[in-house]
Amino acid sequence: MNVKIFYYSFTGNTQRVAQELKEFLSQKGHRVVLEKIVSLDEPSSFFKQGMRAFLKKTGQIAPLDFGNLQDFDCLGLGFPVWALSFPPGVRGFLKEIPPLAGRKFFVFATFGSGLGQTKALDEAEDSLKSKGAQVVGKISIPSSKIEGKEWLASQFEELYKIIAV
Ligand SMILES: Cc1cc2nc3c(=O)[nH]c(=O)nc-3n(C[C@H](O)[C@H](O)[C@H](O)COP(=O)(O)O)c2cc1C
Repeated sequence: MNVKIFYYSFTGNTQRVAQELKEFLSQKGHRVVLEKIVSLDEPSSFFKQGMRAFLKKTGQIAPLDFGNLQDFDCLGLGFPVWALSFPPGVRGFLKEIPPLAGRKFFVFATFGSGLGQTKALDEAEDSLKSKGAQVVGKISIPSSKIEGKEWLASQFEELYKIIAV
């Protein structure tokens, strides 16, 4: 299976999960490509970041390689929960990704308190579905558990059961 995972990460947690997931899937014999969503208009203040996310602002992002999405059997999107939603850069990604007619997608989020995790994942799912994607799996990972390799692997196993069919 060829898998491409897009992710946004500000403090590194989501990137870490994306890398662990790549390793997990690679060990099962799959080819995984990661691509980072880079926000070009990110304020440095936590408050302003949260406010822009809360107001559902769409961020400017660096160009991404959307050229060969049809070559992948499965696509993924990872992001941190921000202000009960997802970061403006992810909104920029969801705006720019081309139509996804029937493409299999999974979504994962990392979070702190947990407030808004379901809402953020559901919102991302709705946005991908509006582009025609088939969203087959959603998982959320508390930042407190990111160091736990075994726990992460158990979550990835559950996700794998869904995406590998
Ligand atoms: C601006 C901002 C807003 C956040 N809002 C939430 C929130 O609403 N709910 C939550 O559970 N965690 C929230 N968090 C915590 C992040 O989701 C968590 O630390 C995440 O793992 C960070 O991922 P990253 O290191 O990949 O950027 C917020 C963090 C930031 C910086």
